[in-house]
Amino acid sequence: MTEPQIDQLHEWDRRHYWHSFSPMADYEPLVIERAEGVWLHTAEGQKLMDAASSMWCMALGHNHPRVTAAIHAQVDRLAHCTSLGMGADVTVRLAKRLADLAPGDLEKVFFSSDGSSAVEIAMKLAVQYWRQCDDPKPARTKFLSFGHAYHGDTLGATALSGIGRYYEPFEPLLCEVVRVAPPDARSVTDTNPAEAVAGEALARVDRVLGDFADEIAAVIIEPRVQMAAGVLMHPEGFLRGLRALCDKHGVLLIADEIAVGLGRCGKKFACDHEGVRPDLMCLGKHLTAGYAPMAATLATPAIWDAFLNSPDRPQEDRTFYHGHTFSGSPLASAAAMAFFDEVDDGLLEKIKPAVDRLGERLGRLAERDAVVHPRQLGMVAAFDLELPGADSSFADPNSIGRQMARHCRERGVWLRPRPDMIYVAPPLTTSVEEIDFLMDVVEESVEVAQEALAGGSLS
Ligand SMILES: Cc1ncc(COP(=O)(O)O)c(C=O)c1O
Repeated sequence: MTEPQIDQLHEWDRRHYWHSFSPMADYEPLVIERAEGVWLHTAEGQKLMDAASSMWCMALGHNHPRVTAAIHAQVDRLAHCTSLGMGADVTVRLAKRLADLAPGDLEKVFFSSDGSSAVEIAMKLAVQYWRQCDDPKPARTKFLSFGHAYHGDTLGATALSGIGRYYEPFEPLLCEVVRVAPPDARSVTDTNPAEAVAGEALARVDRVLGDFADEIAAVIIEPRVQMAAGVLMHPEGFLRGLRALCDKHGVLLIADEIAVGLGRCGKKFACDHEGVRPDLMCLGKHLTAGYAPMAATLATPAIWDAFLNSPDRPQEDRTFYHGHTFSGSPLASAAAMAFFDEVDDGLLEKIKPAVDRLGERLGRLAERDAVVHPRQLGMVAAFDLELPGADSSFADPNSIGRQMARHCRERGVWLRPRPDMIYVAPPLTTSVEEIDFLMDVVEESVEVAQEALAGGSLS
């Protein structure tokens, strides 16, 4: 069979490939053939920097020799085995490694294949825990989540979402969730310090947990940074305060670290920024450095114990009846082990110069009037656009953010377009020089937008 030409690929792409989170009416194909480090090579012949790490996954960049070698070696030994009643040696070793690495006593690991499933598992564990724990509270079936939150797209995870266009069409299918407005570090000023902004949000949580006493099973949070909300950062102290409130009301705390964990925020876990120990933690994305679909839900022994059958209660089956065909995939486990080898070899130390340069370049950008609310934590940086007269509506393909992302793409940088802000979350292994290239292009796109608006040529 002859290889299809690029026009043919584009036609098939437009006609048959229903892309995630993409309006398909005006879909512009972008076909990737191969990738190396932070660079994507497109079938159209362009070299593009992957400034969103293929949606916050490719922690070590593409074609990383240690990870690819680990996957090659594993596929020759054992490509797959079920997690029902058995497990691959490499997956057993990964479970132990995660247990050793995780904060607190999160030492029980349930594997799945994607972040949404990891969240769904945390939800089911929480609800079943309250039915079976020593002091049962079976009415605890609701969840508290935060405004603008994103926890994935399966039905349970969709219910937790705080972004209306993601959950509203499915409302008849969703479980009960109480949403509380999160604190936004952008509202911190000299007269409204971080403690006050965090304190107001904590007071809202306290009220809701009081109002729904004995109905809420767990609070779920994206610790420190809500990526999908437009890199909404919480003020320092909020996470710690939330842990204290969960303890006060006897509610479980689920940390969804799928996007922010495992190095993205500069530490092993975002919870480490405030020394917080959740009851359940969800990991994904960086877990395999993006090389294979795998996620994990970590739980404490207190939760695990509630699922143990006992000869004292022979009539009572407390098993967690949940699992996925590819749970604990050996190939994904091998990739994860290679990622943790890099972590053990000082990955988070090595990235510091690039993280610092990202901060410097963000500071330089923030001197422009159009750039407001610059923010950074580890290898994620963002700013909002203040361009009077520019269209920033979400659905508009000509919104200012989308036009700027198009400009960056022409100049060799792929950013995930947002209507009214720009964020970058490149691989952790991005060099200082590559950060400079990225931020040069971003800065140029701000300049082009400013000039075009001044000349009236941007909508
Ligand atoms: C915080 C958070 N939770 C859950 C998910 C869902 O993960 P997945 O896309 O692997 O299902 C995402 C995905 O972006 C996420 O950012």
